[in-house]
Amino acid sequence: MSSVIPIKQVDLASQPEVDYREVLSDKEIAAIEHECALYEIRPAAAIDALQIVQRERRWISDQSLYAIANMLGMSATELEGVATFYNLIYRHPVGEHVIHLCNSVSCWLNDYQTIAAHLCKTLKIEFGETSQDGKITLLPNVCLGCCDKGPAMMLDGELVENLDVEAIDKLLHGLSGGDNA
Ligand code: FES
Repeated sequence: MSSVIPIKQVDLASQPEVDYREVLSDKEIAAIEHECALYEIRPAAAIDALQIVQRERRWISDQSLYAIANMLGMSATELEGVATFYNLIYRHPVGEHVIHLCNSVSCWLNDYQTIAAHLCKTLKIEFGETSQDGKITLLPNVCLGCCDKGPAMMLDGELVENLDVEAIDKLLHGLSGGDNA
């Protein structure tokens, strides 16, 4: 079964006491402290801290969120607000690779539907799901800022423009070792 990524919401009433030193690695703590030193207040490093932990763990679990909040002197709800506003922070497990396909108007008018349907059919998933082998998560995205080069997507943070079915097949083949193409 592929896994769906639902909307996440932290229940403040049940926020546990978490000591960040018991959850985060020395490497994560050092990197977050480095970012904190660049700002006047520790909560200003919230996005950096989320990115640092996500780089190590691929996604931000509740436990990681509580730990980062503890380290930055924020409530979990405040940090959750940052995490859910920023669509490149994943609050549920994702695959080894994450595709964000632009579904805004210019890409929509430039054959978005063909690309979306081809991705879903090839990966055997819908948007918000991860392929059965755990390798690829497919997510929708608003405009990626390259409207004259659509359809476009972000693959693991890298912009890919002028998509067509052949380009998608080539990319998926590279990601999956040939399983999906
Ligand atoms: S509409 Fe797709 S990149 Fe702008």
